[in-house]
Amino acid sequence: MQSRIWCAAALALWVIGAAIVGWIFVKGWITSGADGRTEIRLAPSERDQILKEMRQLLQAVHGVVVGLNAPEPDAKQVEQTARAVGMRMAADASPSIMMKLPLPFKQMGMSVHRDFDELADGIARGEQSRQTLNRLTSITSRARRAMSSIGSLQRDNDRPDVRHHEIRFL
Ligand code: HEM
Repeated sequence: MQSRIWCAAALALWVIGAAIVGWIFVKGWITSGADGRTEIRLAPSERDQILKEMRQLLQAVHGVVVGLNAPEPDAKQVEQTARAVGMRMAADASPSIMMKLPLPFKQMGMSVHRDFDELADGIARGEQSRQTLNRLTSITSRARRAMSSIGSLQRDNDRPDVRHHEIRFL
């Protein structure tokens, strides 16, 4: 009888724990900002990691455009440039960062990585530059929307006691 009670208690704890983890995964590690926007709490190293990936994305966009614009485009080179920021890059994301980012941010980020893989696949299939540029435009317009409307990374200078950085959602 007692072992049944222990089993039920363990199961209940497991269900509650799983529900909490799931809730944080969807909501992210966020608080409400003073101006009504949402803030994502990030450690400095996590913020640096995200910004580094952003710069790699920009590097890839530049590499694809320059590659396509070359007098004799090297398709293999352009394909590899795009592939480098595909889902392989997303697979390296730290679980701690993934828990802190809200679901819409994660979905938008994943769609961009997936589309870079599809762009690379298209080049491998011999798609023309115009088609590749169309794909790139779809990626960059999404990125522009994400960065202008989803949020920005900010250091909380007004509260020197707080040693983290935040992404603020508009
Ligand atoms: C091709 C795709 C993308 C490119 C080229 C790109 C590029 C960049 C660059 C260069 C930065 C500044 C990095 C720095 O300060 O060192 C940045 C910041 C940022 N990006 Fe992206 N990004 C892309 C996609 C995305 C996506 C999909 C999201 C959201 C899901 C996103 C969210 C952000 C945010 C929140 C910041 C911080 C903005 C700020 O502090 O004002 N980006 N990005």
